[in-house]
Amino acid sequence: MLLCVRWIQPLLALLSSALLTWGAICPPSCLCPDPHTVDCSGRGLTRLPEPLPLDVRRLLLSNNWIPKIPSDFLVLYSDLVYLDLRNNSITQIEAGTISPSSRLVFLDLGSNNLTEIPTGTFGESRSLIKLRLGSNPYLSMVSEDAFLGLTSLRELELERNALSSLQVGALSQLPSLKVVRLEGNPWVCDCDFSELFAWLVENRDKLPNGVEGLECMLPMDGQRVTLDQLTQDSFQKCNETLTLTDLLIIIFSGISVSVAAIMTSFFLASTVHCFQRWGKGSKQDDDDDEEED
Ligand SMILES: *[C@@H]1O[C@H](CO)[C@@H](O)[C@H](O)[C@H]1NC(C)=O
Ligand SMILES: *[C@@H]1O[C@H](CO)[C@@H](O)[C@H](O)[C@H]1NC(C)=O
Repeated sequence: MLLCVRWIQPLLALLSSALLTWGAICPPSCLCPDPHTVDCSGRGLTRLPEPLPLDVRRLLLSNNWIPKIPSDFLVLYSDLVYLDLRNNSITQIEAGTISPSSRLVFLDLGSNNLTEIPTGTFGESRSLIKLRLGSNPYLSMVSEDAFLGLTSLRELELERNALSSLQVGALSQLPSLKVVRLEGNPWVCDCDFSELFAWLVENRDKLPNGVEGLECMLPMDGQRVTLDQLTQDSFQKCNETLTLTDLLIIIFSGISVSVAAIMTSFFLASTVHCFQRWGKGSKQDDDDDEEED
């Protein structure tokens, strides 16, 4: 009897603690393979699952139809380090959703419906190491300060989006960046691309397929070329190209100079003419005087 109690007590304790920590709290139809992981991938979810254990660290939600992350979600689940929302319907991340104190290390928002990444989207989170934003077919605008403050970010994925340009500051402000994926975007190698081009050439070791793995469209004829076919000289003309203001100033100063030249020559010609007439006139006067004498 005593032996029995000795066996049953720890067993009960184990069972109840298991039920309390995760068994009981696992959201319906999801899997909770360990106390800190919740896996709800491909469950047809249209919003974030509930209830979640408050100390959840890994949340796997790929292949669902989730349209947004409530702005207080990461405040509530502050232990979250790994959030996989790949292949959902997210159109935007509200400012403040991710804060500087968030513990998020890995965030996958690939294959969603993001259209732009404004300043402050990732809340200057210092813990973020890997950020996946690829395959968002309408993502055409990434602000220059979109990744500002992400001091630990090592991997950034922006491949297969709708980006035709990107300000180089978005990448050059990342002190820990080791890998950046940019392929499969409709890049246009016009004058604005020149600075990004220079950065890419200098940081080619960060590109998984080098500069030869990136294509851009020439603005003149729409031809697609790989970046290794271009040199900084390809953009040399851009520095010489005049803006409309420059052109106006040149045209205007040209006109002013011509007008001034015409007026000066007219003035000179009239003056010369005057002197000539005056010369003739005074000579005649002299003659008249002589006759009177
Ligand atoms: C994306 O999720 C949907 C819905 O679960 C699924 O049918 C589709 O196969 C997924 N696509 C990919 C590329 O995994
Ligand atoms: C994504 O957005 C586009 C328009 O911006 C819309 O037509 C499309 O249905 C959206 N797709 C999803 C899966 O939400």
